[in-house]
Amino acid sequence: MADTLNGPVCEASDAAPEFPMPRAARCPFDPPPALKELQETAPLSKVRLWDGSRPWLVTRHADQRALLGDPRVSADTDSPGYPPKADGDGGDSKFGFIMLDDPEHARLRRMVTAPFAVKRVEALRPVVQGIVDGLVDELLAGPRPVDLVEAFALPIPSLVICELLGVPYGDHAFFQENTKTMVHRDATPEQRGQATREIAGYLGGLIGERLADPREDLLSGIAGRVRAGEIDRRMATEMALLLLLAGHETTANMIALGTLVLFRNPGQLALLRESDDPKLVVSAVEELLRYLNITHLGRRRAVTADIEIGGQVLRAGDGLILANEIANRDPEVFPDPDRLDLTRDARRHVAFSFGVHQCLGQPLARMELQVVYGTLFRRIPTLRAAVAFEDVRFKHDAFIYGVHSLPVTW
Ligand code: HEM
Repeated sequence: MADTLNGPVCEASDAAPEFPMPRAARCPFDPPPALKELQETAPLSKVRLWDGSRPWLVTRHADQRALLGDPRVSADTDSPGYPPKADGDGGDSKFGFIMLDDPEHARLRRMVTAPFAVKRVEALRPVVQGIVDGLVDELLAGPRPVDLVEAFALPIPSLVICELLGVPYGDHAFFQENTKTMVHRDATPEQRGQATREIAGYLGGLIGERLADPREDLLSGIAGRVRAGEIDRRMATEMALLLLLAGHETTANMIALGTLVLFRNPGQLALLRESDDPKLVVSAVEELLRYLNITHLGRRRAVTADIEIGGQVLRAGDGLILANEIANRDPEVFPDPDRLDLTRDARRHVAFSFGVHQCLGQPLARMELQVVYGTLFRRIPTLRAAVAFEDVRFKHDAFIYGVHSLPVTW
């Protein structure tokens, strides 16, 4: 009797739901139903991770923006309480600056911001239009059906980031294979570590070449910082790796998944294909970013000093997971949030995150997606899926959501 009374009556850890939660099989474009439920009933609550740790899960748009903009919230994986994504996550690598806090984060980020400024990116628009038109020409001249991921979605951002960095595109099979392993949730720590070492060795070699023989590219800019003594070669390699990885895995998945969701919403697709209003392409891209939020599984952070928010006190040393995918479906900000509406004003989405770590490449990603969605369906008006929807394999197993392949015909 005494045992029963003194035992753990209802340990909070038992009650905390496991994270990540699965999506509903029939709604692969929607966030997991459990996230929606938590947003409605317990927008700031604890979840349980694979290692038994219990970070806070933040689901409301307003709370996420407040916390992502709060200097008491750290992105450093070494901060006490930081929620690990998977066993051996990232090793001791901070991937340049994405897992560092200011002021060091800001110092490093500033070294590579210039090529991603809106003006510089706009100057690249004709180049990207040329790449997209060339790939559409190849599609039209080639066999049908064809995998849109391999033939179109992946080459566009890959060609662009290679051009910017000065990485030879001819090596794309090598680095794409390795970056795929790096973002694969089920890859073992050894596999992820091996892939990271392979690609870091490759990029380190290119930086060495640029140290000896600078050119007009971003790798040479990074090498210049090494020469000036501002960073060491290891950091230079990590920064190059971050840009190469972030520069193509994300946008490629947005292109393929966005095309598929438009196939499933023919009214919206017709609007995009037939509208004469250039502003529609711009708003369509924002809405697709909001609706699909491909960087699922949440932004990870740690609390470094107590924070009072939403009727809760987050303590120093608590972990945080900010699930952007559900913030982008917050009805307080986006009325009728589960409806894809290319005409809505979706600009307040957090698909590029918020605060000091918000996506550095967002002007480039936006411009690439605007060119793609303003071109693809106009040039191939009868473009459609060549497989049953039920047969499409979604990337539930990756840190960046999308589809493994998308056979299309016209
Ligand atoms: C549709 C495409 C893209 C999406 C959805 C996306 C999403 C994101 C998100 C959510 C973050 C924030 C991570 C965090 O808060 O922890 C981020 C950071 C970042 N992204 Fe992107 N991204 C995209 C394209 C790009 C491109 C084309 C580049 C170009 C190189 C890029 C470079 C970066 C970098 C360097 C960071 C780290 C910023 C920092 O820590 O200060 N991204 N991205």
